[in-house]
Amino acid sequence: MNTRISEETLDPEDWKTIRALGHQMVDDMMTYLETVRERPVWQPIPEKVRENLKKPLPVKPQGAEKTYQDFLENVLPHPMGNIHPRFWGWVEGTGTPFGMLAEMLAAGMNPDLGAGHHVANYVEAQVLNWLKEMLGYPAEASGLLVSGGSMANLIGLTVARNTMAEFDVRQHGLQASSRKMILYGSVEMHSSFEKAVELLGLGNDSLRKIPVNADFQIDTEALEMAISEDRSKGYQPIAVIGAAGTVNTGAFDDFNALADICAREGLWFHVDGAFGAWAALSPKLQHLVSGMERADSLAFDLHKWMYMPFELGCALVRREEDQLRTFSLTPDYLTRAQRGLSGGPVWYSEYGFQCSRGFRALKAWMSIKEHGVLKYKRLIQQNVSQARYLTDLVDAAPELERMAPVPLNTVCFRFSVNGLDEVALNKLNSELLIQLQESGMAVLSNTVINGKYVLRAAITNHRSRREDFELLVREVIRLGNILVQSQKKKKKPVVRARSRKREELQL
Ligand SMILES: Cc1ncc(COP(=O)(O)O)c(C=O)c1O
Repeated sequence: MNTRISEETLDPEDWKTIRALGHQMVDDMMTYLETVRERPVWQPIPEKVRENLKKPLPVKPQGAEKTYQDFLENVLPHPMGNIHPRFWGWVEGTGTPFGMLAEMLAAGMNPDLGAGHHVANYVEAQVLNWLKEMLGYPAEASGLLVSGGSMANLIGLTVARNTMAEFDVRQHGLQASSRKMILYGSVEMHSSFEKAVELLGLGNDSLRKIPVNADFQIDTEALEMAISEDRSKGYQPIAVIGAAGTVNTGAFDDFNALADICAREGLWFHVDGAFGAWAALSPKLQHLVSGMERADSLAFDLHKWMYMPFELGCALVRREEDQLRTFSLTPDYLTRAQRGLSGGPVWYSEYGFQCSRGFRALKAWMSIKEHGVLKYKRLIQQNVSQARYLTDLVDAAPELERMAPVPLNTVCFRFSVNGLDEVALNKLNSELLIQLQESGMAVLSNTVINGKYVLRAAITNHRSRREDFELLVREVIRLGNILVQSQKKKKKPVVRARSRKREELQL
């Protein structure tokens, strides 16, 4: 009697078919990327597609080919748009064709970079060393590749909290705290710090938002005053956060001044360099990050200004022992051996919160090797020159008003005509932004500068060309003029019925 059980697997029955499908996918995606400029940047998602994405849970197999068809029809044609040459919203990267392929290879090997002695850990170690070198950060620092800047900031602040606490936070938690711990950053610091202090149990009350000067840099005198005021109240100042490229305007704090204050006051110095840290690559921009190398921890992204596919960020910590003291935990089932797969010099699960970790290092390793650092230097400088070019176009257009200095790659401006008060200008520009996005011509995002609604272009795009910025400026002026005309005709607010809720626009 044959007692063999016929066991199942997720591998294909027919490798030939899946191989052919894989080749087709690569072909399709290469064409998709090659022709991206010919399509609108973004378009609203049709109702039918939204409905198609509310289907019941598949119980029976639909098969790879049909599933891929579904992807081609319902997913691929409706992207966010950040791979397009005229996307400058928020701070998004574009990705690259080779980065896409690297993701495929990483998923094919599918290692877990939390533990074990296998080559992927050496790739991550290599990437971390290259990153330290590229940013001028001390070679002996430790680090970890993470999902992005927010996670990197959380890692930095966790190490800061645990290292600076006057008690054992890991053992006793904040319940053991007799003094309130305080952190300092500027009003322009990224929102991830609020989330971080919330998660860390410190609470938003512990995060001092220090005013900025006219260049949106932290006011160091106000910072020192706040530190001394907190000390006089019996609180424990623990850390100062510096910004290398603020999200609103791309401003840089004075890192040497901040590092001096931290040294004098015995505070942890963390730098958020999500995109701005990369100014370190360009000889013309390096002065902006002078002193960044003095940080106790440094957070930055590779999925923004290094143009690598999402998700990819990095946290570096100056003294490895601080990072290990914060995160290392080796239960019985993760005990390290001298030899075998259970050996190896570094297990990255000891450097952060994640136990299992993906092979995000591979796309960094392959991208840096593909292009070499000089190419990245040129591209970063190119984006900064494009921001300067856009600034000049804005400054030369009587209908446009620049709203902040442009130290790096971020240009804040608005459509502005005489006779409109601030409320009307806010409404006009918020409608203009949405119409620009809906036109598919370009994507900008918005922010508020000195209480005014502004259009914001953050240029971290290796596909943009100068003519794209010329088109942007022409289009903004055209849409702005139409909105003003329609406002005059109706003598009503310029906001159309189909646009955002009125109260959202009352900025
Ligand atoms: C200055 C700054 N810090 C932190 C972040 C958060 O990074 P991520 O979106 O990769 O989590 C951003 C995102 O735009 C940022 O601009």
